[in-house]
Amino acid sequence: MFTLTVNGKTVEAGEDKKLMAYLRDDLRLTSVKDGCGEGACGACTVIIDGKATKACIPKLSKLVGKSVVTVEGLSEREKDVYGHCFAKAGAVQCGFCIPGMVMSAKALLDGNSDPSADDVKKALRGNICRCTGYARIEDAILMAAKYFRDDAPIPTIQYTGRLGEDFPRVDAVSKTLATDDYVDDMVLDGMLYGKCLRSRYPRARVLSIDATKAEAHPDVVRVITAADVPGNNVIGHLVKDQDTLVPIGGITHYLGDAIAIVVTKTKETLDEALALVEVAYEELPGVFSPQDAMAEGAPLLFEGGNVLRHEHLVRGNVEEALASAAHVVTQRYSTPPTEHAFMEPETAIALPEGDGVLVYTGGQSIYDEQHEIARMLGLPNEKVHVHSKYVGGGFGGKEDMSVQHHAALAAYLVQAPVKVKLSRQESILVHPKRHAMDMDFTVGCDTEGQLLALKCTIVSDTGAFASLGGPVLQRACTHAAGPYNFQNIDIDGKAVYTNNPP
Ligand code: FES
Ligand code: FES
Repeated sequence: MFTLTVNGKTVEAGEDKKLMAYLRDDLRLTSVKDGCGEGACGACTVIIDGKATKACIPKLSKLVGKSVVTVEGLSEREKDVYGHCFAKAGAVQCGFCIPGMVMSAKALLDGNSDPSADDVKKALRGNICRCTGYARIEDAILMAAKYFRDDAPIPTIQYTGRLGEDFPRVDAVSKTLATDDYVDDMVLDGMLYGKCLRSRYPRARVLSIDATKAEAHPDVVRVITAADVPGNNVIGHLVKDQDTLVPIGGITHYLGDAIAIVVTKTKETLDEALALVEVAYEELPGVFSPQDAMAEGAPLLFEGGNVLRHEHLVRGNVEEALASAAHVVTQRYSTPPTEHAFMEPETAIALPEGDGVLVYTGGQSIYDEQHEIARMLGLPNEKVHVHSKYVGGGFGGKEDMSVQHHAALAAYLVQAPVKVKLSRQESILVHPKRHAMDMDFTVGCDTEGQLLALKCTIVSDTGAFASLGGPVLQRACTHAAGPYNFQNIDIDGKAVYTNNPP
């Protein structure tokens, strides 16, 4: 038995586990956010014996006799002040990092009632915010310090909502005080847990899937494969090119491809159940750059070819204009794939609703999710409801399906609520990135520096699937000339499939 104090109350835990798991799962203190589970992001920050500490690191056995405070344990005055100041300063966007910021702020202000901006920066050095740029969070904390010092009352402001009025986000206070839910904060009666077995190889044929051992595990409710998908297995917002689950005989397109879903009664057994699913593969050669994918004899990743999209924009006569230019400059530019690094890893919960499903999502495209889940389950759209909870950052990285369809499929088949949550590592592996691009630009101007012509080629790596590769390439091409008045352009772009993450 491990005895400690949480928010002023003595609690006893029978089992040794990480403090974050105990606070979130056992005590349901969901202000403690799980952003990474490995001490990197600060979203889980709590105060332990007066010191801001990441709750995902220490185990209960190291905390016997200690006192833990979470946002739920703030006094009413503290809740009023932090809620008001974070909202007023515009410090809250997706909000996922904010309860952790508040705890770091409290640890600072409890010991230093008049901190400098540098003190605030130092206090927040363990807390990452992906949305705000930090300046407004600093402003909020300095404002809170002044309210506490002056013992000033929180003003009641009546907002009219008129244009130009400085009114806060409607959800700023509830996000600051964690009084409303992101999907992972929800627990439903009888809820089960789902997790996907990912491909061992970026490109391989699935020869067989044997779930016998996994199904014999006492905590496993079901193992789901492509053969169980009642509708169309292939999804994709704009181009249908992604298997919900790669079928036997199918070919994987990247390491994030899902082969099977295990559904268990408790989340603690998901990994050991997954390890019992036996998959035989025939490893196939993969391609990892657009150039290799376009080379003669490259493996064909999709029947229609490896080039997803070709854009060619022409105006005037570029060759003539460059030939007559006084100065010509050629330069190659490359941008890498960019991870969006939103703070909330993807989570969805689905549950049966009549003869359809209800899905709680943190995604960016609820209607696309509805349409694709309906198609995958073989249901009319009206049998699928998708309810958006708070979205803990997305920046484009949560436009595609990641967990929603897997949760929906599992819930539909087992007829119980199922939560599917990605770990941070899985999230980075699975979801689309901003496309890497190689760009060759040639620009010509006259003796006065007047721009005459732009010739460029753009090659974009759309990775395993189309995702938004087509529109993003089109955007790159139509914006390649920037705001300049080029009368002669020749812009040629290609988005190319590879076996990289989409
Ligand atoms: Fe604990 Fe990220 S630091 S969840
Ligand atoms: Fe900080 Fe979104 S508001 S991560």
